[in-house]
Amino acid sequence: MRIQGNVRQFGWALLMSFTVVQGAHAAPANAPPVSYGVDSDTFHPVKAKHGMVASVDAMATEVGVDILKQGGNAVDAAVAVGFALAVTHPQAGNLGGGGFMLLRTASGRTTAIDFREMAPARASRDMFLDKQGNADSKLSLTSHLASGTPGTVAGFALAAQKYGTLPLSTLLAPAIKLARDGIVVNDALADDLATYGKETLINHDNSRAIFYKADGKPYQKGERLVQKNLARSLQLIAQQGPDAFYKGKIADEIAGEMAQHGGLIGKQDLAAYRAVERKPVSGTYRGYEVFSMPPPSSGGIHIVQILNILENFDLTKFGFGSADAMQVMAEAEKYAYADRSEYLGDPDFVKVPQQALTSKAYAKTLAQQIDVNKARPSSEIKPGKLAPYESNQTTHFSVVDKDGNAVAVTYTLNTYFGSGIVAGQSGILMNNEMDDFSAKPGTPNVYGLVGGEANAVQPAKRPLSSMSPTIVAKDVKTWLVTGSPGGSRIITTVLQMVVNSIDFGMNVAEATNAPRFHHQWLPDQLRVEKGFSPDTLRLLEAKGQHVKVMPAMGSTQSIMIGPDGTRYGASDPRSVDDLSAGY
Ligand code: DON
Repeated sequence: MRIQGNVRQFGWALLMSFTVVQGAHAAPANAPPVSYGVDSDTFHPVKAKHGMVASVDAMATEVGVDILKQGGNAVDAAVAVGFALAVTHPQAGNLGGGGFMLLRTASGRTTAIDFREMAPARASRDMFLDKQGNADSKLSLTSHLASGTPGTVAGFALAAQKYGTLPLSTLLAPAIKLARDGIVVNDALADDLATYGKETLINHDNSRAIFYKADGKPYQKGERLVQKNLARSLQLIAQQGPDAFYKGKIADEIAGEMAQHGGLIGKQDLAAYRAVERKPVSGTYRGYEVFSMPPPSSGGIHIVQILNILENFDLTKFGFGSADAMQVMAEAEKYAYADRSEYLGDPDFVKVPQQALTSKAYAKTLAQQIDVNKARPSSEIKPGKLAPYESNQTTHFSVVDKDGNAVAVTYTLNTYFGSGIVAGQSGILMNNEMDDFSAKPGTPNVYGLVGGEANAVQPAKRPLSSMSPTIVAKDVKTWLVTGSPGGSRIITTVLQMVVNSIDFGMNVAEATNAPRFHHQWLPDQLRVEKGFSPDTLRLLEAKGQHVKVMPAMGSTQSIMIGPDGTRYGASDPRSVDDLSAGY
């Protein structure tokens, strides 16, 4: 990366080969001041002095705040929130899935924990092709073959042991209680059970027994959902540590379920699973430092790549929601997603050209190809097909503690309730993350993403992800902690959180609530939420964009830290029952 301006290095940080970029690509003179929510603002973040938790579920947020109040640090709270969400938000919260944690200590050390699922040893390149050689999404989404070896328990255990202060059993206790005593079903869960349960959960005895009542209906709002088997599994992990999941009784349940129904995850896959600590992707944007998730997520690389491109344009002058700002952002996104399809995969298997993709010089060459007035058709960048299917589940949460340690976690089962299959009597829903591999090069997955060889199925490989837990720092201090679900839309959703805050001077609630848009190169479509002016959309059409108004995108859960240390939380109005709270 080409770094301009002063590069200052601080004492201990030098030991960790950690650099602080000051004054590099400083904000343009016309950049609005950063906003922290003043009376005259339209939307207001939640404020707290010491610590803040933002998550998609109020019960889980409260678990996190309790841990912080007990003296736990941000990692402790994040792990407890993660386990709680496995109970309160089974749409995406999980033990049977995987994800990523990005963590930045108060002293500025940043690290990433990769607990993404891995393909089982018996997985093979063409396992999702039918007899005609076509990709069969039923196999990769709703069959026993859909699951990769889960990483969540290993990831949380690693995080807690290395960076937390409380024992794992303490962090599991709230989740055990919620599973054993039951939760009062909220709107979000009732609606999602009614809508998505009938596609997956209802087809499997173990799952139906948990989420459906004797009358054959899924649990409704206000009813108490008890998850006894899940409570027992959580309890086993509290007593025996992660080995209970990877080698003990839970491993038996998962391997038994798979063996009985043609799945591939065996005991050896579980025993061999490891969460991996990785160096975050980092970049700079108008004087801020941006840290995000490295491969096997594509998120960090492409957020930095797009920001690098955007640095060549004066977005502040264009203005939020202007056709010109949306045009250059959409065009930058096309180039990034085209590169994603070609170069990104599990770094343990393929060489990902991270330096090149995130270099300022490369971004400049792409910026030069962008015409503010005329869209370049995606077909001129690369060919592809349309995605037929829409899904929106995964979950992100952010935590900041009293000392300023910050944690951003995005984890998932992939689509709503994952494969819908509960493993034996474990009470644990299994993921369908194998769909994130490219079943067949050039054929879009559930998010319409196309991929190539770099993301083909291979034993023990991690499927490429878009999940992008992200932390932005200013003058060494953590400033913004954010992330979102949304499949392929995660990258652009997080990008807009950064741009809205920096270029458009929005406070964190305004940045969250502002309407979003998204281009992923293929399909050649500029997807926009409701809320942009029809005039703007017409101007974009005139530039050659294929604009389509579609359902809301993402569910960001973000925290911003003000200059006086105030924590500002913002949960996404696109979700119901989410909550930012602090103390
Ligand atoms: O890892 C990924 O990119 C996807 N499995 C994330 C899925 C997701 O965000 C679904 N929700 N919208």
